[in-house]
Amino acid sequence: RRIAVTQLPAPAEAPTKTILRALQGEAPAVPPVWMMRQAGRYLPEYRATREKAGDFLSLCYNPDLAAEVTLQPIRRYGFDAAILFADILLLPQALGADLWFVTGEGPRLSTITSEEDFARLKPVHAIDETLSPVYETLRILRRELPAETTLIGFAGAPWTVATYMIAGRGTPDQGPAHALKTENRALFEQLLGKITEGTIEYLSRQIEAGAEVVKIFDSWAGSLQGDDFDRYATEPARLITETLKRRYPGIPVIAFPRQAGEAYTRFHQATGADCVALDDSVDAQWAAENVQIHGCVQGNLAPRHMVEGGPALVSETKRIVQAFSKGPHIFNLGHGITPEADPDNVHRMLEAIRS
Ligand code: CP3
Repeated sequence: RRIAVTQLPAPAEAPTKTILRALQGEAPAVPPVWMMRQAGRYLPEYRATREKAGDFLSLCYNPDLAAEVTLQPIRRYGFDAAILFADILLLPQALGADLWFVTGEGPRLSTITSEEDFARLKPVHAIDETLSPVYETLRILRRELPAETTLIGFAGAPWTVATYMIAGRGTPDQGPAHALKTENRALFEQLLGKITEGTIEYLSRQIEAGAEVVKIFDSWAGSLQGDDFDRYATEPARLITETLKRRYPGIPVIAFPRQAGEAYTRFHQATGADCVALDDSVDAQWAAENVQIHGCVQGNLAPRHMVEGGPALVSETKRIVQAFSKGPHIFNLGHGITPEADPDNVHRMLEAIRS
């Protein structure tokens, strides 16, 4: 099926939004900042809206309430970016997987372990039937966000999404996905190919609805080694980035191959992503010398500092700002902020970045 691509306004010559400038390679005096999971359970106003929506998925599919929780951390902290409120597991659901969340445990999905399971998935073009409320959330946000705030859309990377679709849940070592890769590589690659196609269409619709940047979350990239990393983490990210850039020139891509370690360097070079997000196991000084030389980086304060606070929060924040100060950098955490975080520590972090 040919997808009609709506005409987008030409990208401005010199964007005024700080994040877009960093993504074009500028090194601003003060780095722009946002946080992964900035709309989340550590905020009382999020918990109140979530209560009103009922469960987490009802919140994701309610455009007014999803836009509201996206805006809450912008109002409270004035972050430079807002990230769409949704989840990486909405795409598998749109492809026909059953999805539900068990309180205190996490996501559950129907599993894909055989050709028969795979054949039951819906065609890629059917995803909009399920995901159109998400596009509506983005249209609301483009109207309601302050002019200086960048709107980020996102999807899971094919490998990470596949680990949930194969196992039917989160797994500590992604064992079931590695097992399918060994036992039935053809089926594994067919599944990855389908998720890659679905991700390209999903992110295309997000851009058409108003996302100014898209981010690809590969939370489990670190469990892929050697050739597997290049084939199943780097190559899908490269293909998604290349296709989106051809369709929507000027739309920047941030990629997050979490726990990639030394492979961050070749990932940044090979994917063509405008920015790679660093997890907090990466040394900032090493990353400045080996990864940031290939383009913008994002990160990478350990989320525990938002729980613990104290002098370490301030000194670590300043150390990271300093380490990346010679090149393009977007300040962020190395992973999502946790429900136990103290909302006041976010103010302390912002103070340390901006002072
Ligand atoms: O960052 C944001 O504020 C935007 C929204 C967002 C959510 N999930 C909301 C969410 C984003 C970008 C995600 C990405 C996501 N979802 C990832 C990749 C990033 C990462 O954390 O590694 C993954 C692996 C998922 C899958 C997922 N969603 C899990 C494993 C869980 C359960 C764990 C948990 O924290 O409860 C979720 C639920 C989820 N997604 C919540 C939120 C705010 C908590 C839901 C609640 O309100 O109870």
